[in-house]
Amino acid sequence: MSRHDMSYNLNHMTVINLQEKFQLFSDHWHPRIIGELNGQLVKIAKIQGEFIWHSHENEDELFMVIEGTLWLDFRDKTVELNPGEIIIVPRGVEHRPRTEGEVKIMLFEPAATKHTGEVEHELTRNEQKHI
Ligand code: NI
Repeated sequence: MSRHDMSYNLNHMTVINLQEKFQLFSDHWHPRIIGELNGQLVKIAKIQGEFIWHSHENEDELFMVIEGTLWLDFRDKTVELNPGEIIIVPRGVEHRPRTEGEVKIMLFEPAATKHTGEVEHELTRNEQKHI
């Protein structure tokens, strides 16, 4: 079976329940992969506190808030995202995710995207697991 077939079986035509997936991990700032399509990964993460300023040279990044309130700082403004809201951060734009309590988010990004962008930081997680 080719890798492509595996991917098909893992990801397609199966209902993915986000709350069930969120129950499988508890650490913060460590995205998990829950799906893959067209070279893009669907990831979920629990985040809390302040992340680092970073940008992604080649990839736009989509954030969707599932639970909680996420503030995204940009150099010239801050936006607030609540459950059911999304934002697309264009490539090259510096951003810093920030929360008070725990926030659950979903991300769409190309497989090559590092969540800390061009910045290599102690928070960088190069290995991300399928759950
Ligand atoms: Ni980012």
